[in-house]
Amino acid sequence: MIPRSKISALIRAKKKRHRWALLTAYDAPTAEILEKAGVDFILVGDSVGMVVLGYPSTTCVSMDEMIHHAKAVRRGAKRSLVIGDMPLQGIQRGPRQALESAKRFIHEAGCDAIKLEWGPKALQMTKLLIRHKIPVMGHVGLTPQTARKKNGFKVQGQDAKSAIEILKAAKAFEGQGVFSVLLECVPREVARWITRKLRIPVIGIGAGPDCDGQVLVFHDLVGIFKKFRPRFVKHYAELDSVMTRAVTNYVREVKTRKFPAKKHSFSMSAKELAEFRNEAKRF
Ligand code: KIV
Repeated sequence: MIPRSKISALIRAKKKRHRWALLTAYDAPTAEILEKAGVDFILVGDSVGMVVLGYPSTTCVSMDEMIHHAKAVRRGAKRSLVIGDMPLQGIQRGPRQALESAKRFIHEAGCDAIKLEWGPKALQMTKLLIRHKIPVMGHVGLTPQTARKKNGFKVQGQDAKSAIEILKAAKAFEGQGVFSVLLECVPREVARWITRKLRIPVIGIGAGPDCDGQVLVFHDLVGIFKKFRPRFVKHYAELDSVMTRAVTNYVREVKTRKFPAKKHSFSMSAKELAEFRNEAKRF
């Protein structure tokens, strides 16, 4: 779990304008790559539901599925700070259930902190978790777990009134003692104000360049997830085409007997082979 000293260091780093680079991961090899590449935090996002599990929405992800993926991430990244994302199914019965779910992330999966989306009981839940010494990251702006009920998946805070509501939510999270706020899909001007107004680091996604840090979904960054491509994503690679080419080549080489070649096969000594053939005749 993130020690208190580390949390104050995070806040001090904000004052020194440290830029945080966060990414999501859902499995051990990816987590290992992220750790090697130097990301500051790994988020086991409930986006796993859409980019890995093939669900139509993050709300389909169960708490057991989140724990399964968080454990894999911890196995791959032993030293990184790992944040478990509380799925809707792990919190919808209220603060008591949220506490049980958060404890599972920390004790079963080895996460250091949890992330909680803004919603009806978010502050009550945050208060309870922090009372139980569980570090919390708040999530405001576009909050996918409740977006369908509100006005959908679009840029939030484009008018003054709704921008103030997002600022208020971020300040309320800060007031409960969260160590950071994730700000999703808001105009850059609003993000700049919220970042200035908060003491704790503000991590943006689709929130412009003036936040204290950035987060992206790994599958978007490397170009594997093709169903939709939000404008705020930068594709640092196009692994979808690289992987499709690799698999197409494999299929062709199997069918034309080019794979496996001699170097991919094992052989036995002539003496053992002769003995094997002799014995095998009896069967
Ligand atoms: O689940 C997720 O991946 C998120 C993103 C906003 C990073 O919450």
